[in-house]
Amino acid sequence: MSFTIAIDGPAASGKGTIARALARHFGFAHLDTGLLYRAVGAKGGDPVAAARALAPEDLARDDLRSAEAGQAASRVAAIPEVRAALVEFQRRFARSEPGAVLDGRDIGTVICPEAELKLYVTASDAVRARRRALELGADEARILVELRERDARDAARDVAPMRPAEDALLLDTTEMSIDEAVARAIACAKEAG
Ligand code: C5P
Repeated sequence: MSFTIAIDGPAASGKGTIARALARHFGFAHLDTGLLYRAVGAKGGDPVAAARALAPEDLARDDLRSAEAGQAASRVAAIPEVRAALVEFQRRFARSEPGAVLDGRDIGTVICPEAELKLYVTASDAVRARRRALELGADEARILVELRERDARDAARDVAPMRPAEDALLLDTTEMSIDEAVARAIACAKEAG
């Protein structure tokens, strides 16, 4: 039986870093589900058709990490048919042996409500903006505005809004180093297993 770890949280909260580290530690597969929405947004044209036809090469584009790609992703992610087209792939991935880590916004609530471990990773707006600005080499004030706009849209949409599952463990990484946050997440996974 496969062990599934669902990690959700706002942009630049540290969830991707934690997800990758957990997958490496336990030898699990990892899926950054934000990349699916970024790829759909970047494809242009009809987003529903793009989601239905999404192929591995679409996920390999190097321009998917930009703030613009994040905004485009957040817009197409509010379309119910786009989300529906991506559900099956994510659920199948979640059953990878011996386990899988998926990070996104609706993994614990919609994609894998039965996950063995659900984490909701947060950090203050200022810290998230600083981390993302360093990562992208971009202006911190502009990134802060972008993150807030994207989080507001992700949390307010009707379909699969960003929110913690009722049984998710909250991990606030504002004052934590990466190593500390990862160690905490590994301890949670061991306890859940
Ligand atoms: O995680 P990342 O910042 O790459 O996600 C980009 C956008 O994709 C998010 O702002 C959100 O709108 C959307 N997304 C989503 N559901 C997920 C993952 C990402 O709606 N599971």
